[in-house]
Amino acid sequence: MEKHFSLDESPTFRMLELDEVDSTNNYLRQLDMPDDRRMTLVTAEYQTGGRGAGTNRWESAKGENLLFSLRVMPSALPVARMFAISEAAALAVLYSLEAVSGETAFTVKWPNDIYYGDSKVAGILIENDLMGSKVKSSVIGIGINVNQRRFVSDAPNPRSLADIVGHDVERRSVLEAFMDRIALSLKQIDEGKEEALDALHSNYRKHLYRFAEKHKYRDEMGVFCATLIDVEPSGHLVLMADDGKRRRYEFKEVKYIL
Ligand code: BTN
Repeated sequence: MEKHFSLDESPTFRMLELDEVDSTNNYLRQLDMPDDRRMTLVTAEYQTGGRGAGTNRWESAKGENLLFSLRVMPSALPVARMFAISEAAALAVLYSLEAVSGETAFTVKWPNDIYYGDSKVAGILIENDLMGSKVKSSVIGIGINVNQRRFVSDAPNPRSLADIVGHDVERRSVLEAFMDRIALSLKQIDEGKEEALDALHSNYRKHLYRFAEKHKYRDEMGVFCATLIDVEPSGHLVLMADDGKRRRYEFKEVKYIL
């Protein structure tokens, strides 16, 4: 695979490798560099308070997986298209897993979990800072289950890359493949071309978990059967319920029943 990105320090990139931290997202958000437009990557071997979506915790045994956060400062990304960051991150994780494993059965469970079959291999927590109608900075926090074989938390369906391929995997090669891919997408996002955002979105839609399939979901009204028919550029999930009605959701308004 041809490389476009190196993890070496440069005028546009810096990397901090930590042994232990509460959360790489917290660490990066507290690092005060308001005018520094470089991409900053923080990795950790262990998090004492790794955060998942909402109030969830993120489990990761020391030194076995990838835990990192990348801060980017898009120059002209409208808030209305900020879901593009989520799409770019999910696709970059998916491609890095494909590149390192040779497997192609990874999918993106809306909005940005990475799945293999019905198991979760990676999770993404994005925290955006807005200024007016633009995204000022975005902290993209990623946990990839690389070599951990046993999970003890109550997370329903974790699985690691090593478990999928049957041997341990070099973590840095996954990180490099991720950075290579996301740097390319972020450059396109930064150029602000509508076509690039549309291409990213259509690529994201192609990799969706359970796309066009009928499954059970739960919303505030209860359990229902529906077909996933779309994710809009805004990030809303659109389901076609069995009663023929379209239902449109924001993150956390609906749950997949696995
Ligand atoms: C989820 O699927 O619930 C999101 C998980 C995100 C976990 C990563 S690990 C690195 C970064 N630091 C955190 O505290 N969380 C994210």
